[in-house]
Amino acid sequence: MPAVPMIELLNEAYKGGYALGAFNVNNLEMVQAVIEVAEEERSPVIIQAAPSELEYAGWNVLPGIVKSVAEDHGVTFALHLDHGRTFDDAIRSIRSGLTSVMIDCSTLPLRDNIAQTREIVKVAHAVGVTVEAELGRIGGEEFDIRNSSPDAFMTDPEEARNFVEETGVDTLAVAIGTAHGLYKYEPRLDFDRLDKINRLLGIPLVLHGGTGLPEQDIKRAVSLGVAKLNISTASREAFIRNFVEFSSRYPENLDLMKTMGHAKESMKRVVRSVIRMLGSSNRV
Ligand code: 13P
Repeated sequence: MPAVPMIELLNEAYKGGYALGAFNVNNLEMVQAVIEVAEEERSPVIIQAAPSELEYAGWNVLPGIVKSVAEDHGVTFALHLDHGRTFDDAIRSIRSGLTSVMIDCSTLPLRDNIAQTREIVKVAHAVGVTVEAELGRIGGEEFDIRNSSPDAFMTDPEEARNFVEETGVDTLAVAIGTAHGLYKYEPRLDFDRLDKINRLLGIPLVLHGGTGLPEQDIKRAVSLGVAKLNISTASREAFIRNFVEFSSRYPENLDLMKTMGHAKESMKRVVRSVIRMLGSSNRV
């Protein structure tokens, strides 16, 4: 099955009261970890990469790997650009066969965010590609994103409604108190704000900064319209810690397949627990 437009998967999840994990990947074993679990759990899944990850692995290479592994395993998936910053990022992704793009102009003044997002929506929708945008600023640090003030830039519900109407985006990443990377403080999510946004917009919402969120918060967010949860740090942490531990326990081992294979298994445990928490198992 080829990659499907992300909005099709999100609409199903939104109606069905569950959410999809959106996992960042940048090498073969990370791709395998996500796809293998999706197949075992019979779950649709979103595979995503930020511009820096596509740059690292190759803008055509990484989507090529994802597509061949996913098609080999018969998994239902969407392939998404995470935190695209520019028109060029979006166009390169569409040309590489991604079925969804995020355009994150959240650091720009609202008028410019709307203008740039609208331009990308026009092009993307012409070829059936989904668009995710961000309004408000999600906290934390990841890739080239830095926002150390988690409370300062929460999404305003009314502004979000106007933004969606004016841009035509399919889905919106909301800032309600989550942060990218490891939490330096106890996450306190603003569920009233999420509830208001959900009622006003009536479209599937996206939550970034999934690593380290308590299970009850994740479930509550899903019940209030979140249909996509982004996970990056938790997978990388599991992968790297296992890699380091295995290498130091078996310093004589020079079989990279063994080391990477163990690291992959460790990432699979993270992916599986997220998928189960989100309730997307047995949906295909
Ligand atoms: P975490 O690194 O906190 O899992 O967040 C990932 C993310 O939101 C990517 O856009």
